[in-house]
Amino acid sequence: MNLLVEVREAFRQALSPLVNEPSKVDTYLEMIRPAQNLQHGDYQANFAMALAKSLGKSPKDLAQDIVSQLKGELPFDPPTVAGPGFINIRLKDDWLARRLTDLVNDPRLGVPVSNRIRTYVIDYSGPNVAKPLHVGHLRSTIIGESLCRILRFLGHRVIGDNHLGDWGTQFGMLLFGYKNLLNKKNYEENKVKELARLYIQVRKLAELVGNLQTVYAKFIDLEKFQKEPIEELTRGYIKWIGKSTASTSEDDDATPATNPIASAYREETAKLHRGDPENLQLWNEFMPACMEEVESIYRRLGVQFTHQYGESHYNHMLPHVVEDLLEKKIATHSQGAVIVEDGKNVALIRKGDGAFTYMTTDLATIQFRVETFKPDAILYVVDFRQADHFKSLFAIARKWGYNNIELEHLSFGSVLGQDGKPYKTREGNAVDLHTLLDQAIELGEEKYELSLQIRDIKKQEIPKLSAEEKRHIATVVGIGAVKYADLSQNRTSDYRFSFEKMLATEGNTATYMQYAYARTRSILRKSGEDIETLRKSGASLLISEKEERAVIFQLLKYTETLEATAKEYMPHYITSYLWDLCKAVSTFYSAENCHVLEAKTPELRVSRLLLVDLVGRTIQHALNLLGIETVESM
Ligand code: ARG
Repeated sequence: MNLLVEVREAFRQALSPLVNEPSKVDTYLEMIRPAQNLQHGDYQANFAMALAKSLGKSPKDLAQDIVSQLKGELPFDPPTVAGPGFINIRLKDDWLARRLTDLVNDPRLGVPVSNRIRTYVIDYSGPNVAKPLHVGHLRSTIIGESLCRILRFLGHRVIGDNHLGDWGTQFGMLLFGYKNLLNKKNYEENKVKELARLYIQVRKLAELVGNLQTVYAKFIDLEKFQKEPIEELTRGYIKWIGKSTASTSEDDDATPATNPIASAYREETAKLHRGDPENLQLWNEFMPACMEEVESIYRRLGVQFTHQYGESHYNHMLPHVVEDLLEKKIATHSQGAVIVEDGKNVALIRKGDGAFTYMTTDLATIQFRVETFKPDAILYVVDFRQADHFKSLFAIARKWGYNNIELEHLSFGSVLGQDGKPYKTREGNAVDLHTLLDQAIELGEEKYELSLQIRDIKKQEIPKLSAEEKRHIATVVGIGAVKYADLSQNRTSDYRFSFEKMLATEGNTATYMQYAYARTRSILRKSGEDIETLRKSGASLLISEKEERAVIFQLLKYTETLEATAKEYMPHYITSYLWDLCKAVSTFYSAENCHVLEAKTPELRVSRLLLVDLVGRTIQHALNLLGIETVESM
């Protein structure tokens, strides 16, 4: 039940004769939008202003005409015309009440399955598994998982694919580290930990050697160096630090090609790609440990992929991709390499040394996905820094013949600390994800204990819970807080990571929504009624107060919200919806005339219990689409 669609359809007949081009009718109907100011009505239409010119009428008169042409049984009261020609639309109370009554026994809460079912491949999470996951990987994982759930609920076929970085230079680093820096005992005890250490050590070593090279090349006096090597190196280093403004980014491999450590690990990568038996055997040994590490995070986050093909899966396809692109004259040879030129951009698909690139793999991935899943759309949930990569990728793919498919980079911003800089621990390392989730749960627990104490002092009722139940609540609250904080931002902007804000019990947070849900459950328990029986009783929802109407109206906007979310891939529409719903509900609870359990008549009491039930179900349902759990009492 999409309210907005119902309203638009009611106008179609009156509007159509005024529009010359039938295809434009929808454009005008789309100018009916939710009202900014609910005092004026529920929806507002401003198409009269756009149409009036071509008809040689004043917008105000035109608006009046259209309103008087409305026919049939309308879902709204006669609209009023305001200002220069705005049409204000207010849905009828009894119509709203009937529509919500229809949902009492509807597990889909009125949300229809899409009438245009599509197949989506959603490429999300995609960490490079040879190194520990950090907060930067959270966003793609959380946003991607939520989009999978939303689109699936709307009836689409959704393939969630974790495009793991399981084949890149990081593995060369591990191989080099294993061969040169391994602590055998540690490796036997805990592979994951030792591999993570090796990764960091190799990066550090490459950086150190790179710095030494720069210092040696630019800041060393060779004569002095021969006499006093350490002293001269120190002087050179100090000079270099004074001049150096370079900031090293964690993710990009900016080490110069002449760095012997970098050359060594690149050679390990190349050997792996060429099928060197020793490196392949080691890769097969490392992978389960690396996967165990990422899987343990996915388990905690409740994330499930349909597939986790990963880059290695496409290795055998890469030579054919390049050959095919050459044959089709899309790619050309250039100084020993193979490139694709697209205007000013040049994409490298085979390097001079024969190595393939991230781009080649992504092209092969598109080919594989199209052949295997025949998708209508492939969505890439990847951070904004890869915007250029995806732009070229899509351009090449279209030239290659994949032009009947929606290819979209769903970009997102960075996770920032309170200081507005990329979120890191005090020591400057990116925060390990397990630690971060542990912290969220711990703080969730502290906050929960505190809220229990406050409720106790205020003589409010508190549920009797075992230590285990409390621990469960802390987990649901902690993990939910992290996810909600991320999803409630417009995904394209950066967001500031703050445990304090995300665990707040008031405001637009998961914690607040989880309390709101638990409260509905508590009211229903207190009523002493069997809610299943009430639902089946055929009782109607009633609107007797404006606060009640506001809640009913919000509940009926659920479909509209989900459809907009799916159209623009913006999960924060759902959190904004929840926030509006919960504000309306809170006003309803505190209104003098809106007692639920002590309602004035038995009919009103049943109606309000069913309303509370629908509120709870909707909150729970929406949170679930965001990947967030609820508990029955808190
Ligand atoms: N592994 C990549 C990275 O960490 C992200 C993969 C995104 N997906 C893709 N098909 N390129 O940067």
